[in-house]
Amino acid sequence: MTTYRIALIPGDGIGTAVTEAAFAVAQKAARGVTLEGVTFPWSCEYYVEHGRMMPEDGIETLRGFDAIYLGAVGWPAKVPDSVSLHGLLLPIRKAFVQYANIRPHRLLPGVEGPLKTRDFDILCIRENTEGEYSGAGGRVHVGTPDEVAVETSVFTRAGVERIIRFGFDHAMKRRKKLASVTKSNAQKYSMVFWDEITDLVAKEYPEVEVAHYHIDAMCARMVMAPESLDVVVASNLFGDILTDLGAAIQGGLGFAASANINPDRSAPSMFEPVHGSAPDIAHLGIANPMAAIWSAAQMLDHLGETEASTRILTAMEAVTAQGIGTKPGQDKTEVITNAVLAALEA
Ligand code: IPM
Ligand code: MN
Repeated sequence: MTTYRIALIPGDGIGTAVTEAAFAVAQKAARGVTLEGVTFPWSCEYYVEHGRMMPEDGIETLRGFDAIYLGAVGWPAKVPDSVSLHGLLLPIRKAFVQYANIRPHRLLPGVEGPLKTRDFDILCIRENTEGEYSGAGGRVHVGTPDEVAVETSVFTRAGVERIIRFGFDHAMKRRKKLASVTKSNAQKYSMVFWDEITDLVAKEYPEVEVAHYHIDAMCARMVMAPESLDVVVASNLFGDILTDLGAAIQGGLGFAASANINPDRSAPSMFEPVHGSAPDIAHLGIANPMAAIWSAAQMLDHLGETEASTRILTAMEAVTAQGIGTKPGQDKTEVITNAVLAALEA
């Protein structure tokens, strides 16, 4: 029997509860194969004890796994977000070349979003390892009136080309429409570069209808005409912003799933809900596990267990169709998880 070894990093806050829920669902959905989870306590609490978010050899430890499942990172009262995220989440994405972040946005049955329409199914593909989150920069004259802070966006030809191509490959499997998002009217180097590369790669995909949007116009379009969008490809920062907007129109962050993919499979990919650790509700037991469960479905799909992945989505849809877990805070995490587990038996 095939065994997949999964590194579980529940992280902080609601990350623990949703990871437990998602992994239980994944294990139940994966028939005929075994998911073996190994849990790592890396988190802000770990930082308080050890002075770092993960051990020095953390990346090497994770490298041997088939996939990584992460709950949420961040507890700003204990560790500044800029430290915790640069100590755990972001280094994993970079070290394992998880350059494509896939985030689906559609309404599950029974879930009401803020828009009048239900007619949208958007797949956001976010560049995940460079761009505005390259980490290149610095501060000088700290604390003085002459202080300067510089944060450099890094766009490489290889990096842009591969994410655009990844977007086109997905568009080919969907409705054959790709929207590329930049701000090339204002940022005349990196974003014009992105536009040019999009047009070059587009030549390899003549069947795909390509449109260019500026990030501001795309924000408006996602609200006013989301049905006009299929695959949306954006840089790291723009993709980050758009996918919270996407989460909002799909009913909230409780539904927004995400997969940090290494398409070459040279290292494990990582799956995590878009939402954060939500310290304010961390101990109330009301975190919606749907985003986390959906991310687990993405994980099974990536591992090649497509039937198990589909089983999870079908079960989730059956649960929300009954009105369970459709509104923030309405049902306990446990109730929603048990409903999904039960639906998997149907
Ligand atoms: C996300 C999150 C992270 C990101 C933060 C926590 C660094 O907002 O996954 O969308 O921006 O990548
Ligand atoms: Mn985000």
